[in-house]
Amino acid sequence: MATEGVDKDKRRFLTASTAVVGAIGAGFTAVPFVASWSPSERAKTAGAPVEVDISKLEEGRMVTVEWRGKPVWIVKRSEKSLGDLPGLDDGLRDPASENAQQPQYAQNATRSIKPEIMVMVGICTHLGCSPTHRPEIAPADLGADWLGGFFCPCHGSKFDLAGRVYSGVPAPLNLEVPPHYYKSDNVILIGEDGGAA
Ligand code: FES
Repeated sequence: MATEGVDKDKRRFLTASTAVVGAIGAGFTAVPFVASWSPSERAKTAGAPVEVDISKLEEGRMVTVEWRGKPVWIVKRSEKSLGDLPGLDDGLRDPASENAQQPQYAQNATRSIKPEIMVMVGICTHLGCSPTHRPEIAPADLGADWLGGFFCPCHGSKFDLAGRVYSGVPAPLNLEVPPHYYKSDNVILIGEDGGAA
C-alpha cells in the first residue's frame, strides 16, 4: 500500500537521523573542547585580531578571550610566581620552549613580552581539551609541589604558569603563545605581531 511505503520511508529517515545525532554525540565526547567552547560567528568567519583591555586584570587572575574560535588566556602573574618559574625547570619536558609554537618575542624565561602578563592559547597540546586554571598552591589533588598552573582534566596533563608542560604527562608540547603585541600599556592585540615577529 502507498501509506505503508510512506511509513517505511519515514521510519528509515528517523533511523538515519538518530544515527547522525549519535555520531555527533560521540564526536563531542572524543573532543570535549568542541563541546564546551562555542565560538562567536564573528571569530569563526573572520579570524580577526582581538583587542583586550587588561587594565582591570588583577594579579593571580586570568581573563579568557576568543581568537579564531580558540580560547586565549591572559594571566597576570605575581612576582612570586615569576620567581618560582626557574625552579620548576627540572620537572618540565621543554623548559626553554625549544619545541613550542611561539613568536620570537616570547622566546625568553617568562615566555612573554611583559614578564607579569602571560598570553597563551588555552588548548591542551595532547588532544585539544581546554585545561583548567589552578592557581592554588599545593591543593590536595595536585600535590604538595604544585605552585599554580593549568590542569587538563581529560588525561591529566599539567602546565606551569608559563604554559610549560610537565614531564610524564600525555601532552607533548608547551601551550602555544599566539602572535600579539601591546597597542598601549593596557591594551593587547591578539592575532598580530605589530611588526615585531
Ligand atoms: S587533552 Fe589534555 S591531557 Fe589529553
